[in-house]
Amino acid sequence: MPAPRPGPHPAPLPGPNDLGAWWMPFTANRAFRRKPRLVSGAEGMHYITPDGRHVLDGIAGLWCCNAGHAREPIVRAIRAQAGELDYAPPFQFGHPAAFALAGRLAALAPADLDRVFLCNSGSEAVDTALKIALAYWQARGEGRRTRLIGRERGYHGVGFGGISVGGIAANRRAFGPGLPGTDHLPHTYDRETQAFTVGEPDWGAHLADDLERIVALHDASTIAAVIVEPMAGSTGVLPPPKGYLERLRAICDRHGLLLIFDEVITGFGRLGHAFAAERYGVVPDMITFAKAVNSGTVPLGGVIVREPVHAALMQGPEHMVELFHGYTYSGHPLACAAALATLDLYRDEDLFARARALEPAFGQAVMSLRGLPGILDIRTVGLAAAIDLAGRPDAPGLRAFTIMDRAFEAGLVVRAAGDTLALTPPLIVREDQIGEMVDRLEPVIRANP
Ligand SMILES: Cc1ncc(COP(=O)(O)O)c(C=O)c1O
Repeated sequence: MPAPRPGPHPAPLPGPNDLGAWWMPFTANRAFRRKPRLVSGAEGMHYITPDGRHVLDGIAGLWCCNAGHAREPIVRAIRAQAGELDYAPPFQFGHPAAFALAGRLAALAPADLDRVFLCNSGSEAVDTALKIALAYWQARGEGRRTRLIGRERGYHGVGFGGISVGGIAANRRAFGPGLPGTDHLPHTYDRETQAFTVGEPDWGAHLADDLERIVALHDASTIAAVIVEPMAGSTGVLPPPKGYLERLRAICDRHGLLLIFDEVITGFGRLGHAFAAERYGVVPDMITFAKAVNSGTVPLGGVIVREPVHAALMQGPEHMVELFHGYTYSGHPLACAAALATLDLYRDEDLFARARALEPAFGQAVMSLRGLPGILDIRTVGLAAAIDLAGRPDAPGLRAFTIMDRAFEAGLVVRAAGDTLALTPPLIVREDQIGEMVDRLEPVIRANP
């Protein structure tokens, strides 16, 4: 390794640069540097570029700005909190907003999902939930239960726990073997039977039964938890087949396995309800959340835990820490204040119901792209849609990447992953703006076969 060069001191003031210093996450860095897509402002349904163009946000930031951008009540709450209490240590000390937020979230979550652990992202939420599951079984005297079951095509963030239970090869292959003792359910997507389905497909509930095979292979006494996204988001909007989640819950109950719903994407209205658990009428043992909890304004995530799981861990002398886990920024005052204001907005503007009401029009609008050249499938559920493109055999991913890039020029932010495009607008989107999204995307898809 070459010896590091001494840096200039003092550091140069930030200013125009070649964009090379920031190693961007999940980004084609070299292509971006050559042709950047920069935004420097945002308002409502739009991003604003440094040269003043208004670009329609078709993906709510990154599935997170569900209340839209720069909403005044949220901005006000963050400003006020910064001036009042900038930071409070979450270990052995507390501040009111974190407790208030936990109470609000517990009230939003179904059944006895009443205890809330706070962290800063979806990845941390997932690793926290997996660790709670392991600690729970240990506290119950069943410490042999260490296996964690995820699902193919699952995305649970980028921590070692999350990539181990996750099912995306690209996110795993460079990073070693991951956690020992993980296994995976099959994914629920089958193009033959499900192509161009609006909502939950009829086919596929039986795929949950594969959990019985996994239990038979490893024995229930070695399995701590099963984690799934109720709707797999990042691998292209895969709604659960009708009856699938109920079946998964029943099998977990039969064998005493904890069931974790990773609701980092589905939480806070994406599927027309506070949580997908509510839409599907299935109560998991833990719900992970992040993103839209404060409309993406300040990093925040967490885990909502059923009371008996929490109770099992409240052991030992009262002065002792019960769970040796937490983050410096768990329950950060700014993040909590933003979340409280966001939850108020969701309630006052009835945004989850709005998403529910818009679902048919949104589904119909996106499905209208079906006839374009090289569209293999379109899936929609709630205010989420994915479009599978026939990619270029010589360059997988290039077609969707090009369409994402050209759509930005045409005034629309759309997400590309592999050769799949995703549209997941803020819940404040109007019907005419849904039309606008489709109108902007159509010619771009057509021009890039
Ligand atoms: C279901 C799910 N879990 C976890 C994560 C990771 O969240 P973060 O990027 O905040 O770490 C994501 C992010 O998209 C997600 O969709």
